[in-house]
Amino acid sequence: MQTSVGNSHAKIILIGEHAVVYGQPAIALPIFAVQTTVRVTAQPTLSEPLINSPYYSGLLSQAIGQMQGIRRLIEQLWQQLDDQQTAFELTIESELPAERGMGSSAATAIAIIRALFTFYHQELNQRDLLKLAALSENMIHGNPSGIDAATTGATTPLWFVKGQPLQPLPIDLQGYLVIADSGQKGQTGPAVKSVQNQMMSNPERTQPLITHIGELSQAVATNIAQNQLTALGQNLSLAQDDLRALGVSNSRIDALIETANQAGSLGTKLTGGGRGGCIIALAKTQTNAEQLAQRLRQAGAIKTWIQPLHALHTN
Ligand code: MEV
Repeated sequence: MQTSVGNSHAKIILIGEHAVVYGQPAIALPIFAVQTTVRVTAQPTLSEPLINSPYYSGLLSQAIGQMQGIRRLIEQLWQQLDDQQTAFELTIESELPAERGMGSSAATAIAIIRALFTFYHQELNQRDLLKLAALSENMIHGNPSGIDAATTGATTPLWFVKGQPLQPLPIDLQGYLVIADSGQKGQTGPAVKSVQNQMMSNPERTQPLITHIGELSQAVATNIAQNQLTALGQNLSLAQDDLRALGVSNSRIDALIETANQAGSLGTKLTGGGRGGCIIALAKTQTNAEQLAQRLRQAGAIKTWIQPLHALHTN
């Protein structure tokens, strides 16, 4: 029986999360080593699509809770791509931990869209891919900037400004990022909402923090262009100070960040929505990165990944 496959990958935000929702620039990196795969197989004997996933297995119409965004997306695609409404079985396999700031919901949406367009032999352009991914992302996260979908579907690092065309950002540095999963779920939607509440109730305090994060993103772009690894690390740590002031860090994340800084990280911050999830720490060499990763695991990180700051492009 014919099976179609769609792939996507994890993302991390190097700098600019939360501020990006308010129009500030952010830099995000595709993490190709951590993949989501969706397989679609025709099931003409069923009356509606069947979903197999780590979060839910069963008929599409019964998918509720966190699966509602994905359900909405699949319903839309089924209606749009198949006049006959022939059912299929859709299997989601993901190496991305859910709700840890690595873009698992966006990666799932991107892989589903790619798999179904392949299944129905339809051409898919980047604009439609991101528009469709926004269907589920808006339901899951409330008011996302679109950076997660853009990066989990991208082939290069991105300089991302909400509502503007995607801009590839070449990165070729002799440094390494250690990504460490705190093991604590951090839901992006509520974190974004809490910043929105502060923006409404106390704009005098909140807006300068948001603006400063945008300035740090600009500074990091310069650091990347001029191969300034130490300054880049310092700017990551300054962004963490702003994110902490916005209330999206927490004690568990702060403790891991402290561990990384004591173990020689050049700069450390949360990545993604925060309030749990992952941190990133900058290391000069692969050996430094391995030592940092080990210290973070000893301090309770449940998983670590090492991402060189080159080899960030696919064709
Ligand atoms: C989540 O990965 C990044 C946030 O800035 C939300 C968004 O931009 O959609 C927290």
